[in-house]
Amino acid sequence: MSSVSRIGVLTGGGDAPGLNAVIRAVVKTAFNSGIEVVGLEDSFDGLLDESRTRILTPRDVTGILRLGGTILGTTNKGNPFEYPTGDADGHVDYSQRVVDTFTRMKLDALVVIGGDGTLQIAHQFYLMGIPVVGVPKTIDNDIWGTTSCFGFDTAVSFAADAIDRLHTTAEAHRRIMVVELMGRYAGWISLHAGVAGGADVILIPEIPYDVDKVAAHLKERESFGAKFSIVVVAEGARPLGGNVTLVSQAHAGHVERLGGIGAVVASQLGEKTKKETRYVVLGHLQRGGAPTAFDRVLATRFGGKAVELLMRGVFGRMVANNPPDIVPIPLADVVGKTKTVPLDYDLLKTARALGISFGD
Ligand code: F6P
Repeated sequence: MSSVSRIGVLTGGGDAPGLNAVIRAVVKTAFNSGIEVVGLEDSFDGLLDESRTRILTPRDVTGILRLGGTILGTTNKGNPFEYPTGDADGHVDYSQRVVDTFTRMKLDALVVIGGDGTLQIAHQFYLMGIPVVGVPKTIDNDIWGTTSCFGFDTAVSFAADAIDRLHTTAEAHRRIMVVELMGRYAGWISLHAGVAGGADVILIPEIPYDVDKVAAHLKERESFGAKFSIVVVAEGARPLGGNVTLVSQAHAGHVERLGGIGAVVASQLGEKTKKETRYVVLGHLQRGGAPTAFDRVLATRFGGKAVELLMRGVFGRMVANNPPDIVPIPLADVVGKTKTVPLDYDLLKTARALGISFGD
């Protein structure tokens, strides 16, 4: 057993529904075991400046289980190893300052809740001597080693509901409706929401598409009497031999921003099918709002397990969903990898068997 009596907790990267549920579980389980919890604001920024920290008690987390966002704030631009200076490509290494603040604050361990980027930073600090436990978070569901991340179920449920709504307006106008969903380089959200919403075409990053094949599929549907179609496009989808569509390139501490493929595909399909076509981008609506019951439970299990691990002195691990258990896996095995949709995934095969086109 380790002698952990004071821990820090932070949330990093893009927000995902369920972050507050993890914070609540960490605070309550730690408090009930006599451990003090310090909330660190805006990811690792909270360890650059002590004034951005506050002690969290069960009273501070009452009522946050159902809230989206994060009471601690978050950022996807504050990597302490490459902290942006604000100049064109300038950055500075603040990592030692983080370690010094951690020591000065008499913290014994850190719970880091974040996606691939944040977990990578957590692993680097673990190698520098900070006892860390990681909690995987992302609507994209692309973190290696865990079957699911909280936030994903909420994003999929919202997107499926949106696709339901598109059906009625598409049918009324006999249109093709294209809907662009998030997910970065993984097609999990699009595949699951597309199947749940009854889409006719699903384009995902793992399967480069041929727009002529998509158009042919939609025309064929028409010849069978279907007067409208729903096309789901993942933001990271790309045509055969082509590239992803970007809103902006990567620069100084900022990753590249994906987006725009929905408009491109809609315009091409309109031309090729001669049918009226519209597109909609769901964007950050997929990250907002209350977490589903599934995500609240998963987030709570992750938070509870993280505290159990650090009480046992198990560090440098990420809690992972491996049904029916939540298990610790080495952060070293997780970082630098992306869990994409396997081409032999049963849902992918079933979707094809149902007649859904992936444009290949
Ligand atoms: O990783 C989560 C995610 O929502 C992606 O699906 C999306 O590409 C990205 O974050 C958007 O990030 P930002 O909030 O910086 O626009």
